[in-house]
Amino acid sequence: MKPMQPVRGTADLMPRQKSQMNFVVEKAIMIAGRYGFQSMETPIFEFTEVFSRPLGESSDVVAKETYSFEDRGGTSLTLRPEGTASVMRALISNGLTQTLPQKFFYSGPMFRYERPQKGRMRQFHQIGCEFIGTFEPLADAEVISCAAHLLLELGILDKCKLYLNSLGDAESRDKYRSVLIGYLKDYSASLSKDSQRRLALNPLRILDSKAIEDREIIKNAPKLNEFLTVNSKEHFKRVTDALEKSLINWQLDTNLVRGLDYYSHTAFEFVTDALGSQGTVIGGGRYDGLSSMLGGPNIGAVGFAAGVERLTFLIEKTEEFKYDVAVIIADDEASMDAFALAQKLRSVGLKVDIPFASQLGKKLKRANSLGCSLSLIIGKDEINSNTLQIKFMESGEQKKIAKSEAVAFVERLLKS
Ligand code: HAM
Repeated sequence: MKPMQPVRGTADLMPRQKSQMNFVVEKAIMIAGRYGFQSMETPIFEFTEVFSRPLGESSDVVAKETYSFEDRGGTSLTLRPEGTASVMRALISNGLTQTLPQKFFYSGPMFRYERPQKGRMRQFHQIGCEFIGTFEPLADAEVISCAAHLLLELGILDKCKLYLNSLGDAESRDKYRSVLIGYLKDYSASLSKDSQRRLALNPLRILDSKAIEDREIIKNAPKLNEFLTVNSKEHFKRVTDALEKSLINWQLDTNLVRGLDYYSHTAFEFVTDALGSQGTVIGGGRYDGLSSMLGGPNIGAVGFAAGVERLTFLIEKTEEFKYDVAVIIADDEASMDAFALAQKLRSVGLKVDIPFASQLGKKLKRANSLGCSLSLIIGKDEINSNTLQIKFMESGEQKKIAKSEAVAFVERLLKS
């Protein structure tokens, strides 16, 4: 039998990668906290309708990428492909629509049946922030600033460019949609198969197409920003003015439409060219229509999500896990005392290993390879004299200390 492999598009997060991802998530919690986003968590699966309507039946995510299944009771469920719809559903389910605004942070696995490649997985991880309960443009600027702040904190802001667009309000998009259809119809035979399908279902998404045959046609298409209503223009100006006031660089990308149906007004992405074709590390925008799509009231909201794997690729954190101390059993009779000593050291916050090997030399060798700066050696003689041998791994120097003083001594040495 062939050894089992993880499912295509999934990955085991082995300690090195997991610790880097933890580092990213911890930084995100810290930065999000400065903006008032509080951690919450929604279930990994939801009723299929939570995603199908808000994200758009014709969106790639819903049409081709969801992991949907019937459970044993015949209910259609979907593994969450993203967090925003679930968070909004949770806000409504928990009766929080009367106590707005609310600011939420979340992190966890998401699932999309996409073609796997570097930076694109079928199970991946996102961190996200959602600012729910305001139509105020400064909230968009705050969310974008928070995302930029996270990149800065991770030391990768200079590797990313911020692209912005305004999708306007429904009136702006309706006006634009009919003009765009009029333009694209003349080229419909030359469009990619996907875009031909989108022409009837969701023509705006054609602007986002990566197909070469579409790119040429899109280049000369009318631009959405020429059809924005006065209110939509004013909204976008307040967002970009606020960003400029706080020295956040941005670039207009009139083709940035994002892949999900719930967006209006501001749409944004932080993109890097250091990751090949999967260069979008953060995506977000305003989603004022989402609450009503889920049966809730008309609520303004804006947020972003970042791909944790993609952020992790960009950071240069190569620190390996290191122990502080090894407790070395020199004679079998000392095993229990050594075990108890290791526990005491752990309880004061130190990382402690008890190397298991057949010979003392091998145990010390392991202590070295684990990065321990000290080894505490305990054998028959030490038990009889209530002492320990302490070995300084770098110099090789060794000395005897009283057992009763060992923990305080090591703590002082390693924590100073
Ligand atoms: P999204 O652009 O679909 O937006 O995803 C956000 C980020 O998740 C992407 O920029 C990327 O870094 C990461 N990502 C997406 N798909 C994959 C994948 N297959 N493999 C690895 N990473 C991936 C959303 O999900 C929206 N919910 C963002 C949002 C929040 N809008 C408003 N609030």
